[in-house]
Amino acid sequence: MSFVDSERRVLSGMRPSGRLHIGHYHGVLKNWIRLQHEYECFFCIVDWHALTTDYDEVSGISQLVMDMAVDWLAAGVSPSSATLFIQSQVPEHAELHLLLSMICPLGWLERVPSYKERQEPQQSKDLSTYGFLGYPLLQAADILLYRAGVVPVGVDQLPHIEFCRDIARRFNHMYGREPGFELKAEAAIVKLGKKTATLYNNLRRAFQEQGDVEALETARALLKDQQSITLGDKERLFGYLEGGGKVILPEPQALLSDAPKLSGLDGRKMAKSNGNAIFLRDSSSEVEEKIKRMPTDPARVHRNDPGEPERCPVWPLHQVYSSADTCAWVQQGCREAGIGCLECKGPLIDAVCKELQPIQLRAVDYQNSPDLVRNILAEGAEHARDEARETLSEVRLALGLNYR
Ligand code: TRP
Ligand code: SF4
Repeated sequence: MSFVDSERRVLSGMRPSGRLHIGHYHGVLKNWIRLQHEYECFFCIVDWHALTTDYDEVSGISQLVMDMAVDWLAAGVSPSSATLFIQSQVPEHAELHLLLSMICPLGWLERVPSYKERQEPQQSKDLSTYGFLGYPLLQAADILLYRAGVVPVGVDQLPHIEFCRDIARRFNHMYGREPGFELKAEAAIVKLGKKTATLYNNLRRAFQEQGDVEALETARALLKDQQSITLGDKERLFGYLEGGGKVILPEPQALLSDAPKLSGLDGRKMAKSNGNAIFLRDSSSEVEEKIKRMPTDPARVHRNDPGEPERCPVWPLHQVYSSADTCAWVQQGCREAGIGCLECKGPLIDAVCKELQPIQLRAVDYQNSPDLVRNILAEGAEHARDEARETLSEVRLALGLNYR
């Protein structure tokens, strides 16, 4: 059996959305760049995930993938420290997804928030497809295929990581048991006493047969309170709830970044679709234009009207980009009408341009060498496949699919 130090392994994925903006940089990429030196990192461009929603607009996908890869590299995600690859170049993701689909209760997928929301009648596009329903399972396969223990994601992804853990647990329960374990566990149940044993059995059945996660929680709480059995038996019964025995697919943990969400030019969340983003490859004059056009506190109609930074979308950007001194200058100058809005925006424009400059220099190099980028991704896929095959051979063995 191959050993993987899950705790030290990171996997994360991003949909191929083309050129990235400074929100991605502060929210995600800077975190990855830090992690790549501390962990064994796999960063995946999840092109199949894009198809789960955008199956009707597939023509531009390879360009979106390339643009995003260039931005990852330009920002400092390094192929010498991390493995960068495209999901569809590692077909093992599909095989694991298929095998996991056999044991994935429909109810678990139907109650994932991202699916429930898209089924609301006011949604413009019909996403009652097999692919979209199964999207969290594909994501679970992305993670479990590498036995990654650490998954850096935003809060919106927490239900998906929880779902992934549930799937891993169910898989291990069904296929990871070792001989002798079951008998010992059954003997421990008897020691609980008749009433508690019946309760335990019912809850365990509800979890295993219907995937009832609440029953699992209740059973765990029940076990915690048991005084009459040994610690060893208690451990066994915890394991027996979820399978116990051998862990084939370790349960991952979400790693939330502490970076605050960067707001966009209009104060809403920065997003390409909101048309309020500053892109990593915007030129200095575009950055200047965009920031100069930003709305400010509506109370400042005239230069002499005092304002309030808390009501101004420029302020959150200062908080990310400016020194404490500059922030104090903004707050005081704004509230006392000591500075004008254009004056206030000056240091921000400079700071954003300064941050983007080295990124853009690297981006030009990568953009001019598409073969280099393709090679990096191909090598990443090769390495990812080696790791993926190791996991899949364990999985195939556990499922009895080991033909010779
Ligand atoms: N679902 C994630 C998103 O929309 C992208 C994703 C796919 C992902 N597979 C992943 C994230 C695996 C982390 C790990 O942002
Ligand atoms: Fe916004 Fe600065 Fe103008 Fe105040 S001075 S309203 S913070 S741009």
